[in-house]
Amino acid sequence: MKKIIVTGGAGFIGSNFVHYVVNNHPEIHVTVLDKLTYAGNKENLVGLPSNQVKLVVGDIADAELVDKLVQETDAVVHYAAESHNDNSLNDPFPFVQTNIIGTYTLIEACRKHNIRYHHVSTDEVYGDLPLREDLPEYGEGVGEKFTAETPYNPSSPYSSTKAGSDLLVKAWVRSFGLKATISNCSNNYGPYQHIEKFIPRQITNVLSGITPKLYGEGKNVRDWIHTNDHSSAVWAILTKGRIGETYLIGADGEEDNKTVIELILELMGQSKDAYEHVQDRSGHDLRYAIDSTKLREELGWEPEFTDFRSGLVDTIQWYTDNQEWWKSEKELIESNYAKQGQ
Ligand SMILES: NC(=O)c1ccc[n+]([C@@H]2O[C@H](COP(=O)([O-])OP(=O)(O)OC[C@H]3O[C@@H](n4cnc5c(N)ncnc54)[C@H](O)[C@@H]3O)[C@@H](O)[C@H]2O)c1
Repeated sequence: MKKIIVTGGAGFIGSNFVHYVVNNHPEIHVTVLDKLTYAGNKENLVGLPSNQVKLVVGDIADAELVDKLVQETDAVVHYAAESHNDNSLNDPFPFVQTNIIGTYTLIEACRKHNIRYHHVSTDEVYGDLPLREDLPEYGEGVGEKFTAETPYNPSSPYSSTKAGSDLLVKAWVRSFGLKATISNCSNNYGPYQHIEKFIPRQITNVLSGITPKLYGEGKNVRDWIHTNDHSSAVWAILTKGRIGETYLIGADGEEDNKTVIELILELMGQSKDAYEHVQDRSGHDLRYAIDSTKLREELGWEPEFTDFRSGLVDTIQWYTDNQEWWKSEKELIESNYAKQGQ
């Protein structure tokens, strides 16, 4: 493998993956295919060597462009998506268009040219798990986590379009022999994440003198993973994963939102209760938790960033040092949230 296409490589997780490839595999040439929506930012790729990384601004649903690029590559790693649950509740159409039609367009081109394809997805396709505190102390369901066998049960337009795209890939493997793998990862944090998302929103609230906002009571649990660990896992699956398999990626990082907001406040030198409760997200999933045994045992992958607190310290530092990266968008993001009582 010498050349790969990374779709959505100017977004949060995609750009971190491109940095990971450049830093660890200098022999690989990366073509980033990105539409540069509000969530994509050329700045995320600044400083990367131009002889190793090329940006093509375009839509993954543009069949002609995709066909041309795919026939010149060895593999496609597909990150591009509409990715924000709250936006999907306000306007689901772009989610259907990009996440379903866009994925369809990519896998059709990969099928036609017999190109290796890796599909990046989310654990949200599985719906949610009960909170641990609501589980009986002993008995069925205790310690339950998502595995590749968990039935799909998505809650939001975002997660349902991601689920739909996963199912297309599974069918293309079975019906057409597409050389594909799928990964479903838990919630990522780290540099370059759009400030509409929970962790960077709260960090940039503190930096802007705005009171941080907690959805509802903040009991909802997410299984946090540093985005660099997501990148190393995707690389392991792309290079060593078995065709047709699904691998779940997670780093045992379960934390509820209240704990996360309090930790951010503490690490930023504020009082732990200096936040306000806002209206909960409609259909808000309760708990996600990943069982990544298959990935660890089969491919020998291990996460590096297992200390959430120190990962958060680094992330806070990044948003503090890179205020010009997010400042111009802050007012608009907060006024959009305010319109929804959030
Ligand atoms: N954020 C998470 O915690 C998380 C967790 C698990 C999986 N994922 C998955 O990882 C992928 C990346 O997520 P993210 O958080 O980096 O998203 P993001 O919103 O930060 O980035 C998405 C990127 O895709 C690009 N894009 C959107 N529509 C496009 C189109 N039609 N054509 C080409 N490019 C387009 C955007 O410009 C942007 O650069 C998604 O598939 C998401 O479902 C995310």
